[in-house]
Order: sequence, then structure tokens, then C-alpha cells
Amino acid sequence: MVMGLLAKFILISLLQTPLHHPNGTLQQLPQIIIIGVRKGGTRALIEMLSLHSAVVAAQNEVHFFDWESHFQKGLPWYLSQMPYAFPEQLTVEKTPAYFTSAKVPKRIYQMNPNIKLLLILRDPTERVLSDYTQVFYNRLQKHKRYQPIESVLVKDGEINLGYKALNRSLYYVHMQNWLQYFPLESILVVDGDRLIKDPLPEMKKVERFLKLEPQINASNFYFNKTKGFYCLRDHGRERCLHDSKGRAHPHVAPAILQKLYKFFHQPNKKFFELVGRTFNWK
Ligand SMILES: *[C@@H]1O[C@H](CO)[C@@H](O)[C@H](O)[C@H]1NC(C)=O
Ligand SMILES: *[C@@H]1O[C@H](CO)[C@@H](O)[C@H](O)[C@H]1NC(C)=O
Ligand SMILES: *[C@@H]1O[C@H](CO)[C@@H](O)[C@H](O)[C@H]1NC(C)=O
Ligand SMILES: *[C@@H]1O[C@H](CO)[C@@H](O)[C@H](O)[C@H]1NC(C)=O
Repeated sequence: MVMGLLAKFILISLLQTPLHHPNGTLQQLPQIIIIGVRKGGTRALIEMLSLHSAVVAAQNEVHFFDWESHFQKGLPWYLSQMPYAFPEQLTVEKTPAYFTSAKVPKRIYQMNPNIKLLLILRDPTERVLSDYTQVFYNRLQKHKRYQPIESVLVKDGEINLGYKALNRSLYYVHMQNWLQYFPLESILVVDGDRLIKDPLPEMKKVERFLKLEPQINASNFYFNKTKGFYCLRDHGRERCLHDSKGRAHPHVAPAILQKLYKFFHQPNKKFFELVGRTFNWK
């Protein structure tokens, strides 16, 4: 027991001893994690957050807390995946699969109970269609068979609860797991539909939540009419998100769409009650 504590103390001390690179930067465990949701706009959010000079973002989705093979490598491995940052900067990583993985909240809590979590959500029906579209294009590229959307969404005339993409949009189910470990004040729910239509007000909320000096401003965004999306301006450098981010959804029969909207009505209500606010979802 004593040895266990001692070992734990040494491990924690080691992790907290900054290994400074000669240029003054170091790798830090993230103080911010974007936990999801898949197809909610997590890439846009992390790119926009990177506009802030006090934030450094991990390039890849780390999948530390949800993939056993990564988690078993321990926190030193996780740390090694982080970008170099100056000590006064904050590190952020995003792995959208965290939100819907039931074992993740406890694991993040054990690393840092005071961590700040960002969750970006969209209309759950839109999210399902977008989720399907991504899988559809992936399979198309690999010349694999794919099922038409109607046949995965509906089974025997009813909404198919076994369809994973549908489950991912049951936000209250997953949110309950997070609220067992984190207070609501630790989780900012970003409105992904608004972020795409008008990024600045949402990003101002993110800055306030993270207690960052207000820095992101209107000149960081410009609307690209060809794309129909906002692009980013970062120190004069312009960049737009990858083209796959704006792919058209498949056509879905209006009757099925109505069924979906109706299906999500109660789950959405439960989510609004959990977080104490509403969203403009159909
Ligand atoms: C500092 O060094 C690290 C490691 O080589 C590098 O990744 C990072 O870009 C450097 N940062 C600056 C500001 O020079
Ligand atoms: C939805 O996902 C949650 C969390 O993974 C799981 O507990 C639940 O059984 C799933 N529900 C359905 C209907 O598959
Ligand atoms: C917006 O931010 C940029 C970069 O930080 C700065 O150069 C510019 O003066 C700001 N513009 C306004 C209108 O505040
Ligand atoms: C706007 O989007 C189009 C189409 O993707 C692209 O070719 C163009 O470079 C973009 N222009 C600017 C200024 O971002």
C-alpha cells in the first residue's frame, strides 16, 4: 500500500516535471479536451480554437481513453502525443469518439478532475445523416458494398435502434455518463449548427469558458461563397477546412425524415433538461 502510494507519487512527480526543450517549449497533458461528438464540427472547433495564441492543438485524434491498446501504454505515452507548447499556453486534443464511450469519463477524471471539456453538438438528425454520409464515402472509396440509408435507418417499418449512428445522436444517454464525474460547469456545449453559420459568437463563448484573454475577432473569419462556408484567417494565412466537411447528404424520403425528427423529440427534451438549456433542433 505504502509502496503503491510512493510509486504513484514518483510517477506523478515525473509527469509534472516539465521536460523543457531547448527552445523553451514542453509537452503538457491537455488542460482542454474536445470530447465529441462525431460529425458535430470538432475539426472546425479545434481549428478555430487554434487561432488563439494561448492554445496549442494536437494534430491527430489521439484515441487514448477509448482505445485499450493506447490506454494500456499509460499517461507517459499520452504525454508523448502532445504538441510542444510554451509553459503559459494551454494544450488541447480532440477525439470525437470519447463522448459516446462509456468508460472514458472516469478515465479522464482520474487524470485531471478539473479539466475543461468541450462538446460540440448538432441537430441529432442532421448528425445521423452526416455520419451515414461519411461511412458511405469511405466504403465507396474502398470499393466496398454499402447499404442505402433507408435500409439502415428503418427496420420493419420502425426506426432501427440497433443502428450505431442513431445511438450516437442520443445525446442524453452519453451525457449522463459524463455528469457522473464532471459538474456541468466543467463542460461547455458548443452549438455546432451556429458555429458553422456564424462562428464568432460561439468562439467568444469558448474563450470565456476557458478564461482566455479575448483575442479571436471578426477578421479571423471570412465567408467563401463558392464553398458556402467560413474559412479562417490566421496571421494573414488563409485556410479552409477539408472539402469532405461540406459533403452533401444523401436524399432521404421526407416520410423517413419526419420519423427521425419525431424519434429524437423525447431524447432531445431529456438532453435539454440535463444541461439546463435548449437548442434549436427540429
Ligand atoms: C520547439 O521544439 C520542438 C521540438 O523540436 C518543435 O516541435 C517546436 O516547433 C519548437 N517550437 C518553437 C516555437 O520553436
Ligand atoms: C446506446 O449506446 C449506449 C452506450 O454505448 C449503450 O449503453 C446502449 O445500450 C445503446 N443503446 C442501444 C439501443 O443500442
Ligand atoms: C483582430 O485580431 C488580429 C490578430 O490578433 C489583430 O491584428 C486585429 O487588430 C484585430 N482586429 C480588430 C478589429 O480588433
Ligand atoms: C473558396 O473556395 C473555393 C472552392 O473550394 C476555393 O477553390 C478557393 O480557393 C476558396 N477561396 C478562398 C479565398 O478561400
